[in-house]
Amino acid sequence: MIEVNNVTRIHHRGDTEVQALRGLSCEIAEGSFTFIVGPSGSGKSTLLYLLGALDEPTSGEIRVRGRVLSEMEPAERDEYRRTEVGFIFQSFNLMKTMDAVENVLMPFLPRGITSELRERARTLLKQVGLEHRLDHTPNQLSGGEQQRVAIARALLKDPQIVLADEPTGELDSQTGAEIFGYLRKLHREQQATVVVVTHDQRYIEDGDRVLRVRDGKIDTHAENPVNTV
Ligand SMILES: Nc1ncnc2c1ncn2[C@@H]1O[C@H](COP(=O)(O)OP(=O)(O)OP(=O)(O)O)[C@@H](O)[C@H]1O
Ligand SMILES: [Mg+2]
Repeated sequence: MIEVNNVTRIHHRGDTEVQALRGLSCEIAEGSFTFIVGPSGSGKSTLLYLLGALDEPTSGEIRVRGRVLSEMEPAERDEYRRTEVGFIFQSFNLMKTMDAVENVLMPFLPRGITSELRERARTLLKQVGLEHRLDHTPNQLSGGEQQRVAIARALLKDPQIVLADEPTGELDSQTGAEIFGYLRKLHREQQATVVVVTHDQRYIEDGDRVLRVRDGKIDTHAENPVNTV
């Protein structure tokens, strides 16, 4: 269970303050497939960064399985980011100088790469349809292929939580549907909690949860602010 309690995040830009989140509270059930939707600038990416402990709230707290993220020791937080969370962020770029296999292995570099792990990375890349692109670097891959490398990287961790920020952003609808196919598989087969920010509501299915964000808060005026269908 992820609990977000009255979280604010204020960015300072020169003399101006930008309130990206203004007291947002929500719960994300373990094993759920949750969508975060809302207008541009409403705070969706900010919320996702906080859930991944890539950023800290200005006030309020986020609990993941009982642990308050901002109270974790730095080493524990690193471990959380590295092993528990799979990130599929467009701004969380692949390393330009590394090929697809090395990019998938990247989170494991600090602990050393075994030949077994390397083999699993290759298998995962094959599963996302990149068997012919294993030694290509990101600039030799299309946007959809890069996104699939990021997915294979998230899969290799066997993460409990997958955070995806507009994973189908610039992709055509067929590639977009494939990307969601992989996310669904991860959710189904590894019981991961999947949280996806998207503008594309076509991918929402029965049983998914939908959190609607507006002006840095959960939109309680929406018809279904929290859809639990
Ligand atoms: N580092 C930053 N410094 C200053 N302001 C920021 C920063 N990051 C985000 N913001 C502001 O916070 C608000 C929320 O941004 P956020 O990226 O979370 O929106 P979003 O809902 O993801 O939008 P989009 O759908 O366009 O991606 C915006 O007004 C944005 O300009
Ligand atoms: Mg965003």
